[in-house]
Amino acid sequence: MTDGGARAGAEAAAVAAVEAFYAAWSAGDLEALRGTMNYPHVSLFPGHIEVRATPEEFESPFERLRELQAWYSSSLDRIHPIWTRDDKVCLSVDWSRYGEDGARYLSGNIIYIVTNVDGHWGIQFRARSEPRDRDGPPPEAAERPRNTLLTLVPEEIEEFARRHTTPLPPHLEELSRFTLEELEFGLMLSGPIEGGLLQLLAWATRAKRILEIGCFTGFSAQMMAAALPDDGELITCEIDPETAGIARKYADAGPDGHKIEIRVGPASETLETLVGPFDLVFIDADKDPYIDYYEAALELLADDGIIAVDNVLLNGRVVDPESKSGQRMAAFNAHVAADERVKQVLLTIRDGVMLIRRA
Ligand SMILES: C[S@@+](CC[C@H](N)C(=O)[O-])C[C@H]1O[C@@H](n2cnc3c(N)ncnc32)[C@H](O)[C@@H]1O
Repeated sequence: MTDGGARAGAEAAAVAAVEAFYAAWSAGDLEALRGTMNYPHVSLFPGHIEVRATPEEFESPFERLRELQAWYSSSLDRIHPIWTRDDKVCLSVDWSRYGEDGARYLSGNIIYIVTNVDGHWGIQFRARSEPRDRDGPPPEAAERPRNTLLTLVPEEIEEFARRHTTPLPPHLEELSRFTLEELEFGLMLSGPIEGGLLQLLAWATRAKRILEIGCFTGFSAQMMAAALPDDGELITCEIDPETAGIARKYADAGPDGHKIEIRVGPASETLETLVGPFDLVFIDADKDPYIDYYEAALELLADDGIIAVDNVLLNGRVVDPESKSGQRMAAFNAHVAADERVKQVLLTIRDGVMLIRRA
């Protein structure tokens, strides 16, 4: 069988498995549900599934999810394995911490079927489940307005700051609206305040070349590109071809698209092909390789350049010793803080932005 054939077969099997799971779930048929599982830590009760498993037991698919949902790594502690069978694992991600945003864009939990094909774990199926709590969003969520980007300051202060920050041009307003309203992971958008900061940094460094690691729909890329001269260049890395396509479309519709080059593929591979110097580097992709990205960025950085790193406070989890993702990000911060080659400041805007320059 060809690779494509094996993959399609595995995908069909995963879809069939999840359909059987839903059918049994909807019918409340616990016996049939038990038949879909062979995982000893899972118990089924009418109305809910109880899981007593640690993420380590699902390390491979968890790693893959980490890669694919970089920005949401702060929420990975909330992934619940549901069942595993042969080479398939079913996981549920609880998005309720994203409150109304989660309820609106994600409709409660997302069920993933993660399948091993030829030794590689990948998401083969994704579906939304009804929120378990049918009485409405959790209390913390009810207080959060829709489309609210993650911020560590009170919402009203954030809103005040937004109102006193130069407004977005219409084409970036439209890109923000599309990203937040139409895309499942729209809240990865950096937004007007952080975007404004990046644009100001591009302007202040008189940047001619900018590198971005983590393009998404290209909002931050367009914000920074706007401060480049007409012959300036911004290279941005994006692993997901579909997302890169959206970014390309919106960049081409804006005034600075000709300055933006999107490199599709894992950033680690793209970085190996690049030649510096870059005046500004923005790191905003998957979080686990942050130290590697930082080391690569420093190699490529112009003498007077600046590296900006997003999400360095990881929703406050850096100070939570129980949070693995928080401790990984804390290790990144410690790495930079101990590096005598640089000076840095950690800003508490958005999810934490660290600005770094050569010492
Ligand atoms: C937080 S979003 C970037 C947001 C964007 N900078 C903005 O402000 O609108 C992170 C992006 O990095 C991408 N990504 C994740 N892992 C990656 C990798 N290993 N290589 C390249 N891109 C990756 C994700 O697909 C996602 O689109």
